[in-house]
Amino acid sequence: MAESAPAFKTQMVQKSVQELVLNGDELPENYIHKDRDGGDLDVPLVEIPVVNLGLLKSLSTSKEELQKLRSALSTWGCIQLTNHGMTPSFLDEVREVTKQFFALPMEEKQKYSRDAKSADGIEGYGNDKILSEKQILNGTERLHITLNPEQRKLKFWPENPKVFRDILNDYTIKLSMVIEIILTAMARSLDLEDNCFLDQYGKEGKMNAGFNYYPKCPRPDLVIGIEEHTDAAAITFLLQDNEVEGLQFQKDNQWFKVPIIPEALLVIVGDQAEIMSNGIFKSPVHRVVTNSERERISLAVFCLPGFNEEIGPIDRLVDESRPRLYKKVKNYVSIYLEYFKQRKRPIEAVKI
Ligand code: OGA
Ligand code: NI
Repeated sequence: MAESAPAFKTQMVQKSVQELVLNGDELPENYIHKDRDGGDLDVPLVEIPVVNLGLLKSLSTSKEELQKLRSALSTWGCIQLTNHGMTPSFLDEVREVTKQFFALPMEEKQKYSRDAKSADGIEGYGNDKILSEKQILNGTERLHITLNPEQRKLKFWPENPKVFRDILNDYTIKLSMVIEIILTAMARSLDLEDNCFLDQYGKEGKMNAGFNYYPKCPRPDLVIGIEEHTDAAAITFLLQDNEVEGLQFQKDNQWFKVPIIPEALLVIVGDQAEIMSNGIFKSPVHRVVTNSERERISLAVFCLPGFNEEIGPIDRLVDESRPRLYKKVKNYVSIYLEYFKQRKRPIEAVKI
């Protein structure tokens, strides 16, 4: 899920699915999706368009690539981004430190636990927060970290494995260049001023990392990895496991699974980019299914406009044929969480 609530109580004693599986315990009620029929696990594969970042950057080569970007983001809300400046071996290192962290003993991981009482909000290691009694829990362990240098809380940055912090720092620097290029290209693909999305993203745009670990789960028909949702961000960069699939997108009421391209980053439109583009770019509903044979990891980096920035549909995207679909809004994440908790689609809250 995109962002969890800072203000809600956390049940810290909750056992992870991993512990339950290792102990041979029965899965507790709140992990079981009673309305799941299991029949939808084996869904068709979708070929998400592959976009080459190198080609997007240069005026002479970008035309066709921009066209591809626009068409993919306005249908699937997603691209597989290649040639983004990070080598396959660097991406493997990022995956490797993620796996190593989650493989640590529980006491070691809990050194980085989310603190329910402090103002640190969602940052830290843990399971899902309990937001409401009705909530169905996701079968995942997560580590949330704020990446922006000035807002870093190093107490949540694992020192084990030793290279974790350095690698995450490098990854942050590289992604902050990529986000600028992507937001610029998105504007160009719609014939807008280069900076229009970047200006709304603002100088205080925030990057939050969500490391996910999906343990092997004996009943993928009953337990979901991450429940269906859209992301609250403007853009999410998802580094998928290089071998194990699990992510699915919904389009026209049908689920599709996303293939793995190990050297690519999956770029997903979040609700805030849908709002800024007046609905042209689509924030896709997605979920993660569990796997009975193999564990899976992923790393989502959510790029969020600064909380003090007002975001809203770009004026030039509003006209008679395309009326304004969304209100202007500040701190969309708090609205998102309120709606998410009520199991409503958050973007509905800002529809006109
Ligand atoms: C998320 C998400 C997908 C994945 O964290 O919001 O959608 O493949 N993750 O883990
Ligand atoms: Ni997501």
